[in-house]
Amino acid sequence: MCGIVGYIGERDVTPVLVNGLKKLEYRGYDSAGIAVFNDSRISVVKTKGRLSSLEEKLCNIKLHGHMGIGHTRWATHGEPNDVNSHPHLSNNGNIAVVHNGIIENYMQLKDFLTGKGYEFISDTDTEVIAHLIDYNYKGDILKAVMNTMNDVEGAYALGVICSEYPDRIIAARKDSPLIVGLGKNENFIASDIPAILEHTRDIYILEDKEVVSITADGAEIFNLLGERVNRDVFHVDWDVSSAEKGGYEHFMMKEICEEPNAIKATISPRIQNNQIVLDKFHIADEFIKNCEKINIIACGTAYHAGVVGKYIIEKLARISVEVDVASEFRYRDPIINEKQLTVVISQSGETLDTLMAMREAKKRGSRIIAIVNVVGSSIAREADDVLYTWAGPEIAVASTKAYNTQLAALYLFALNLAKQKGELSEESYQCHITELQKLPQQVEAVLGDRELIQKFAYEHFNARSVFFIGRSMDYALSMEGSLKLKEISYIHSEAYAGGELKHGTIALIEEGTLVVCPLTQDYLMEKMISNIREIKARGAVVLAITTQKNEAAIKEVADVVITIPDMDNIFAPAVAVTPMQLFAYYVSVMKGNDVDKPRNLAKSVTVE
Ligand code: AGP
Repeated sequence: MCGIVGYIGERDVTPVLVNGLKKLEYRGYDSAGIAVFNDSRISVVKTKGRLSSLEEKLCNIKLHGHMGIGHTRWATHGEPNDVNSHPHLSNNGNIAVVHNGIIENYMQLKDFLTGKGYEFISDTDTEVIAHLIDYNYKGDILKAVMNTMNDVEGAYALGVICSEYPDRIIAARKDSPLIVGLGKNENFIASDIPAILEHTRDIYILEDKEVVSITADGAEIFNLLGERVNRDVFHVDWDVSSAEKGGYEHFMMKEICEEPNAIKATISPRIQNNQIVLDKFHIADEFIKNCEKINIIACGTAYHAGVVGKYIIEKLARISVEVDVASEFRYRDPIINEKQLTVVISQSGETLDTLMAMREAKKRGSRIIAIVNVVGSSIAREADDVLYTWAGPEIAVASTKAYNTQLAALYLFALNLAKQKGELSEESYQCHITELQKLPQQVEAVLGDRELIQKFAYEHFNARSVFFIGRSMDYALSMEGSLKLKEISYIHSEAYAGGELKHGTIALIEEGTLVVCPLTQDYLMEKMISNIREIKARGAVVLAITTQKNEAAIKEVADVVITIPDMDNIFAPAVAVTPMQLFAYYVSVMKGNDVDKPRNLAKSVTVE
C-alpha cells in the first residue's frame, strides 16, 4: 500500500507535499518522490529510502511551484530503488503519475505500448499508466485519464499532472482510497485524512471508477463515461492531535494507552437505558431465528479478533460461526446463502483482500455487517450495515486499540443477537452489559502494570523464538500476541493450542525457550497448568497472563505472572491482549526497531 498527496493553490507546493507524505508514511516507506510544475515544465525528485532521504535531496534541489503530486511507496512491482519510486513520467516528460494499487493487466499494456514506441525505464506496473495516458492524450487531460482508466484492470488511486494543464490535477480511484481536500483557493488529493487534516476538514470521498478534476478554485467529479457526479462534502471531526504522537515516543504506545477511551467510545453510545442499541441497523427476529451460520472474514489482527468473536457469538447467541482469512475465503468456493450473516472486520476499511471477500459473500446472497474503524471507507460504504469502532485514527502499523475495540463491537453484536434470539434472560443480559462496561477501567489497570512487562521484555528481547500457547479464547488471543511480537520485533513466534503441543510441537521446547501463556478461562485452568508443567520440565521460561484470583496458583508454575482484574472470563481477551501488545512494544524498542513503521509492512494492505 502507498500514500498519495497532491496540492494546487497559492502556497509553495513542495513543503505541503512533503508534510503530507510525512502523515502518510505509515502507508509505505521504502521510497518517496514528488513531481512539481515549475518553469513551464514538470520536475521530479524521487529516491529510495525513507522520506528523510527525499528531504535531503530537496535541500540541494530548489523545487518550487504551486501545483504538484507526491508519493510514499510500499513496493509491489519492482524493488525499492530510485528508478522504481514514484512519480513516473511519460517519455516526453509532459505527464507525471503517482499510484496506489496494482495494475493487473500491466504486462499486456506494456507490450502494446512498447509496440507503439514507448520506452520503459522501471520495473513497475505504474509506469504503464504514465505512458498510456500520454498515448490517450489528444489535448484533453481529463478525457485521456478517463480513457486510460477504461483500459486498465486492477486497483488504483491515481494522481496525474500534465505540463499543458498547469492549473489542475486529475485524480482517479478504483478499490484504493482517495479523498479530495477542499480548502480556500487551494485544494488537495490524498490517500487518507491525516495528510490534509492540518489544512482542511472538508473532503470529498471518491467512489470507485470516478475521476476528479481539481483546480485551486474547486473540484469536479465525473464517472468514466464523462458524466458529472454530485458528492456531498464530508466534514472530518477528528481533532488534529489524534493524528499526532502527543508526547509519546511512538504512535504504538500512544494508541495502546488510548485503549480505555477507545473501548468506552465504542461501547457507551450503544448502551441506552441498559439496552444495547446497534446504531441504525436492525436484524429481523425471524431472520435471526432462521440464521444457520455467521461468517466472519478479515485479515491479520482483525482476523484474530474474528477468531475470538467466534467464541463470543457461539457462547452467547448459540449460532454457528465460521471464521476465514479473507484471502483464503475468496478462493474456496464458500457455501454462503441469504440465510447467513457475514461479519467483515477491518480497521482501515480498505484492505483489498477483505473488500474482495466481502463482495464474494454479498454476491452469494449473504447480508454483510462491517466492523470498521475508518468512517466512509470502502468496506464501510459497501456493507449493508456498519458497526463502527470509535478507536480514532490508528497510525502505528501494528494494530492495537483497533483490536480491543473490535472485540468490544463483537461483544455488543453478540449480546444483541443473544437477547433477540432469547438465549439470555434479561437478568443475564444486564449482568453482561454491566461487565462489558467495566472493560475500560480494567484495561486502565493493566496499563498501570507496564513496568513489570517492560522488565521481562528487557530480559528476553534477544529470544530466537517465542511461543504463545493457550486454550479456547486464550488460544485465539495467543494468535494476536504472536503476530504483534513478530511484526515489530522480527523475532520468530508461533501461537499454539495448549492441548496440541504434545502432538509434536513440544519437540521444539528446549532450555530457555520463551513461552507466553494467557490463562483467563477458569474452566481450563488445570489443563493449562499441566501444559506449563510439561514445558517447564523441558526448560521453558514462562510468562503467564492471568486473573488476580489465579495469581497464587499460577505463580507456583510460571516464572513471571502478569495479572488482569478478575472478570467474567468471556470478556478477558479484550484486557489480556494489552500486556501482550506492551510486551511486543518493549521488545521492539529494545531491539532498536522502528516500532511504528516496521520493515516490509504497511498500515493498510490495499493490494492483493
Ligand atoms: C496488524 O498489526 C497488522 N498491521 C495487519 O495484520 C492488519 O491487521 C491487517 O492488514 C488487516 O488490516 P485492516 O484491519 O485494516 O483490514
